[in-house]
Amino acid sequence: MCIFIDCLLCPTVIWSAVIGIGVYFLKDYMQGGQFTKETNETGKVVIVTGANTGIGKETAKELARRGATVYMACRDMTRCEIARLEIVKETNNQNVFSRELDLSSLASIRKFVAGFKAEQQKLHVLINNAGVMRCPKTLTKDGFEIQLGVNHMGHFLLTNLLLDVLKKSAPSRIVVVSSLAHTRGAINVDDLNSEKSYDEGSAYSQSKLANVLFTRELAKRLEGTGVTVNALHPGVVDTELARNWKFFQTNFVKYFLKPMLWPLLKTPKSGAQTSIYAALDPDLVNVSGQYFSDCKPKEVAPAAKDEKVGKFLWAESEKWTSKSD
Ligand SMILES: NC(=O)c1ccc[n+]([C@@H]2O[C@H](COP(=O)([O-])OP(=O)(O)OC[C@H]3O[C@@H](n4cnc5c(N)ncnc54)[C@H](OP(=O)(O)O)[C@@H]3O)[C@@H](O)[C@H]2O)c1
Repeated sequence: MCIFIDCLLCPTVIWSAVIGIGVYFLKDYMQGGQFTKETNETGKVVIVTGANTGIGKETAKELARRGATVYMACRDMTRCEIARLEIVKETNNQNVFSRELDLSSLASIRKFVAGFKAEQQKLHVLINNAGVMRCPKTLTKDGFEIQLGVNHMGHFLLTNLLLDVLKKSAPSRIVVVSSLAHTRGAINVDDLNSEKSYDEGSAYSQSKLANVLFTRELAKRLEGTGVTVNALHPGVVDTELARNWKFFQTNFVKYFLKPMLWPLLKTPKSGAQTSIYAALDPDLVNVSGQYFSDCKPKEVAPAAKDEKVGKFLWAESEKWTSKSD
C-alpha cells in the first residue's frame, strides 16, 4: 500500500497527471462557440455540399438530428452512401439522401440541380461547405484553377441555379463556409485563373476571399426576397482538408507536429457549430451579408469589403459559369 502511494506521489506521475488534465482543458477550451439552441427542423429541406466527411458530415448529421430532410451533395457516391447510412443510423431520420455533385464540373452541377428540382419543390437552407485546399496546380473539367473552381465558381453556379426555389421557400438561408484564410487573400484581377503564376496558398486564400465577396454581393442582390446569405470561418478543424498539402503528408507532421497541435484543433463536430448557427438560429432570420466565427459575428478583412472587386468577381463568375457543356 505504502509503495503504491509513494508511486502515486512520484514526480513523474504527478507531472503526467497535470499535463494530461491541462491538455484536456485546453482541448475543451479550443472547441469554441457551440450552437446550443434546440430547434425542430421537421419539414425543412436542406442541401449540404461535401457532406461525406469533416465539417459537412457533422453539419448534415446535426440537421438530420433536428428533423430536416437533408440532401448530401457529394462527388464520391461510395463515401457519401457510407456517411449517409451512418447518419440515418445515428439520427433515426430516414429523410437523408445522397446525391452526386462534382463542383469541379459545370455539367455535374446543372445535373444535380435538375435532379433536385425534380424531387423537391422547396429548399430552406443551402450550405456551401465543400472545399479543397492547397492543391498542386490542377484544372477543373471546365479549365478553372481547381481551388477557385470548386470553392467559389462551382458554388456560384449552384447557388444561382437554386435561387428560384430558395426564393419560393422564403424565409430561407444560404450559408457559405469561407475561412480566416480570406484575410490573407487577394483577388488577382489580372490573372484570376492563375495562368501566369500559381501559388497553392495564395490560390486557396483567393478562393476563400471570393466566398466572402460573393456573400456580400449576393446579400445586396437578395434584399427584400426573404433569402439571406452569410459566410463564416469554422475554426481550425481536424479534418481531411490538408490531404493535398504535401507538407502535411510528411512523417514530421504526421508523427510530431499533428500530435502536438491536436489539443489546439476543433473536432469536426465543433467545426460544424457555426454553420449550424448560421443555418438555424432564429435570431438571424433577417441577418444577411455577415461573416461569423465561433457562433458570433466577426469583422471581415478590408479586401472583402471592396465592392468594386466584388462586382468584378461577380461579372467574371457569371461569364465563366455560363459556358455551355
Ligand atoms: N478544416 C479547417 O480547419 C477549415 C478551416 C477553414 C475553412 N474550412 C472550410 O471548411 C469546408 C469544409 O472543409 P473540411 O475541413 O471539412 O475538409 P474535408 O474534410 O476535406 O471535406 C471537404 C469536403 O468537400 C468535398 N469536395 C472536395 N472537392 C469537391 C468537389 N469537386 N465536388 C464536391 N465536393 C467536393 C470533399 O469530398 P471528398 O471527400 O470526396 O473529397 C469533402 O466532402 C471547406 O470549404 C474548407 O475550406 C476548413
